[in-house]
Amino acid sequence: MTRLSLRYDDTNMRSAAVGKTGVSPREWSAMLPRLRAARNAVQKLARMKEQGFMDLPFERKTNAVCTKLAKQLSRSFTDLVVLGIGGSDLGARALQQALAPVDEHKKGTMRLHFAGSSTDPDELSRLLKRLNMKKTCVNVISKSGDTLETMAAFLVFRDRILKSVGPGRMPSHIVATTDEESGSLNELARKERYELLPVPMNVGGRFSVLSSVGLFPAAAIGIDTTLLLQGAKSFVEGFHECTPNECMSTRYAGLHVIGMERRDQRIHVTMPYATRLAWFAHWVRQLVAESLGKQTSRKGKTIHAGPTPVNAVGPEDQHSQMQLYNEGPFDKLITFIEVKRFNGDIRTPAAGTMGNAIARFGSRSFQDLIHLERRATAESLCRNMRPNATLTMDRIDARAMGELIMFWEIAVALMGELTDVNAYNQPGVELSKRIMREAFT
Ligand code: PA5
Repeated sequence: MTRLSLRYDDTNMRSAAVGKTGVSPREWSAMLPRLRAARNAVQKLARMKEQGFMDLPFERKTNAVCTKLAKQLSRSFTDLVVLGIGGSDLGARALQQALAPVDEHKKGTMRLHFAGSSTDPDELSRLLKRLNMKKTCVNVISKSGDTLETMAAFLVFRDRILKSVGPGRMPSHIVATTDEESGSLNELARKERYELLPVPMNVGGRFSVLSSVGLFPAAAIGIDTTLLLQGAKSFVEGFHECTPNECMSTRYAGLHVIGMERRDQRIHVTMPYATRLAWFAHWVRQLVAESLGKQTSRKGKTIHAGPTPVNAVGPEDQHSQMQLYNEGPFDKLITFIEVKRFNGDIRTPAAGTMGNAIARFGSRSFQDLIHLERRATAESLCRNMRPNATLTMDRIDARAMGELIMFWEIAVALMGELTDVNAYNQPGVELSKRIMREAFT
């Protein structure tokens, strides 16, 4: 079986650890046939090419195009601004925070900025003031090609670039990432001759981080996108090889769906103990909410289904949300993400001479402290009968991030099958987009 860096410890989700709030052996056995069926359905969608997100790690050509273009542009530009929102934005932000080299803007890379996920004018003017348009390249990302926030920001950037370098050179400052065949942005990119990076038709926004949507910005800051894809590929191969009891995504999906169905545990918390994964937890929140929160079942029955995803960060939220998690309603399932080895460690100096309570914090490794904090939090939750699980990654590197991304995408796809919703559409989001569009007519 494919060896993965990721491990999923669900001991504390089970009744043996947390009592009646956890999943009993009988409930788990009853779930197994449903999990097999869900897995078959997800595999079938991939085989029939109805959903393409599991194919992305095998797409070597897209990766080669993105890395080559990023390298080429970094010779002329110092800054890259990504304009996108939702699934066209969060994945790249998560990758930047997790994996950007410490010496950002080393040779062959660009500084990465994000705009387009808000219409807050203060944010945008602050960024515009900092940039030299002659040295700035824009990556406008929109699968549909007509999203208000992204396109409004794009109009501003296009105009600034035009004024700064003139119409002849303006197109060389723009990379458009959009639907491979149609849409307003696709049309404009062809008309004005921008570099065009296609998003496959069968990959939706929130499942697109491993397409050119995430790969190009990642490559532009020097992330090893080949390793990222290798990690995701290993995870997909493992998913096809293993049984529901062995597969991490399958166990996550099964345990969360049992919690929702039998105990109303509908608040699903993702809590990394690593600040570099805070944006990743944001990405998970969008993936879960937009995929699983639905008014109707696939047959059209009104169900108003879906978990509420919440993100937290340890240890910060031990002094905030943890009070609620430990003592509030029994409606939460918590998933920690633990990083075994951080890139560097820091030790506190010996403090014995202080002779008071502070002295006990002397001669400690920060890495040990953060692990101790996560373990203590998990233990406190167990004592209060609050189910929790831990995903452990050896370190935060590109390969492990690829695994982590695929872990969640597959888990959410399985949960869509188990809860009988279409995990790949977003009519609720489209409705507000439509109302906004109507305001302009
Ligand atoms: O996941 C999704 O489909 C959405 O979050 C979209 O990514 C978001 O609405 C932006 O859409 P677009 O890429 O078409 O501009």
